[in-house]
Amino acid sequence: MTDLNPQAKQMADESMVRNLDAQARAIWPQEMPLIRRYALPAEPSILDAGCGTGEGSSRLAELFPRAQVLGVDIVDHHLELARGRYASLAPRLTFEHQSIYELQAADRSFDLTVCRHVLHSILHADRVIAELGRVTRRGGYLHLIPEDYGMLHFQRAAIDPLDFWHQVPTSFGERTGTDLFIGRHAFGILAAMKMEEIEVDYVVVDTLRAPRETFAAILQAWRDGYAESIGELTPISRESAVAYFNQMIANIRDPRGYAVWMVPVVSARVP
Ligand SMILES: C[S@@+](CC[C@H](N)C(=O)[O-])C[C@H]1O[C@@H](n2cnc3c(N)ncnc32)[C@H](O)[C@@H]1O
Repeated sequence: MTDLNPQAKQMADESMVRNLDAQARAIWPQEMPLIRRYALPAEPSILDAGCGTGEGSSRLAELFPRAQVLGVDIVDHHLELARGRYASLAPRLTFEHQSIYELQAADRSFDLTVCRHVLHSILHADRVIAELGRVTRRGGYLHLIPEDYGMLHFQRAAIDPLDFWHQVPTSFGERTGTDLFIGRHAFGILAAMKMEEIEVDYVVVDTLRAPRETFAAILQAWRDGYAESIGELTPISRESAVAYFNQMIANIRDPRGYAVWMVPVVSARVP
């Protein structure tokens, strides 16, 4: 079991590179103070599991100037982009092709193990969380962003996004074997692993906290990367998915509009 990645096509798409950039710009300002809470050694060893283009890994390396940060992913194009973009942070920051189901690290290698925006898109997220726990030191931390597609709220309109978010994540998850509501299930998975100090916090990406264009860019990238597979895997056609996303983008761009994406940040300490 190495590359159980049913969203392989979308993950490697150009729209995902745009999306990871916009997501990091929207989320990191609120995520950074949550990461600062962890009691880490002066020279922490950090793993970014499913690092993509290195948006999180590079910010972690900058936040902890004496840290050694390893980003791993299975999409080589992302890894090449990350190595090129963040060459100035090497050799403190490195990127390797590794699957998060079978990491190469020995048990208890990292002080902080981060996994952002991955667990909703893969099979057997619980096995991956167990693998992340294996490579984290006693007293070290897991820091997860397990997305939850029941935590997006838009204003109702003629094309009502409420209908979209009711239907799409359930059908998409059933057809791909993934849990698009993993955000609310991560606590229970960590509790079953007997993790300590489990916390569930929220980054609030809304039209007040994030620039409207940054928030809109996330929805545009989802539209461009996912409308086709939504048409194939759910009762909503590709054309209809595009119309729903355009409605949500208009809601975000409307200077009087309000929309919110609650992003769970789930952390725990390894006993
Ligand atoms: C939505 S991206 C998030 C990227 C990054 N964590 C960030 O916050 O910008 C999800 C990433 O998980 C990676 N991924 C999926 N399955 C994986 C696996 N089995 N092993 C390693 N990475 C995987 C994808 O290739 C993709 O780059």
